[in-house]
Amino acid sequence: MLNVLLASRNAGKLREFAELLPVFRLVPWPAEAPELPETGAFFQDNALQKAEAARTWWLAHGTEPVDGVLADDSGLCVDALWGGPGVLSARFAPELPSYHDKNRRLLAMLPDSADRCARFVCVLAFAPMQGEPFTVAGAVEGSLASDPCGEHGFGYDPIFIPDGHDHTFGELPAEVKHALSHRGRACVALRERLA
Ligand code: IMP
Repeated sequence: MLNVLLASRNAGKLREFAELLPVFRLVPWPAEAPELPETGAFFQDNALQKAEAARTWWLAHGTEPVDGVLADDSGLCVDALWGGPGVLSARFAPELPSYHDKNRRLLAMLPDSADRCARFVCVLAFAPMQGEPFTVAGAVEGSLASDPCGEHGFGYDPIFIPDGHDHTFGELPAEVKHALSHRGRACVALRERLA
């Protein structure tokens, strides 16, 4: 079993990775560790930045040996918002404390006639402790609901209806989300790459 440092403090992502990657022993990013940089313009740049910064920090301060570092950069890309909030998904409407309010704000930005097509994108960067980092990606196409619905998942899940379904990720069970989500697909690619 690989020991993998998970370079994220996002509780929603942590829960999903524990379910999606039971083949790894996941080591959490410590509370005393620094915030990880994400200054790039693309998901791939940010995922690599986070993985490399976390690896460097762990080599100097880590408390146990790990085989590699896993970082996720992901977000919701809405066609009618020119792909936004995209890489800025975690920083959308920072004045609003809850995703309930952020989701309502995002929906209110769309005129009634707007194209509601959207996709979730996830890029995972894996940095072995020795060797070159690499990335894998996953995406799921869908559309935006008219109102937030459902309590499952996290973030923008209550407003995203994946193609082929009539309910949001916030309403669908976790197993259904994992089978078709951006993160689920990226994790399949990661496992294949590491096999
Ligand atoms: P970052 O990867 O740290 O920049 O943050 C990604 C942000 O995108 C999260 O904080 C969420 O707002 C959003 N996001 C990414 N994946 C999901 C998902 O699976 N469901 C809902 N929101 C997501």
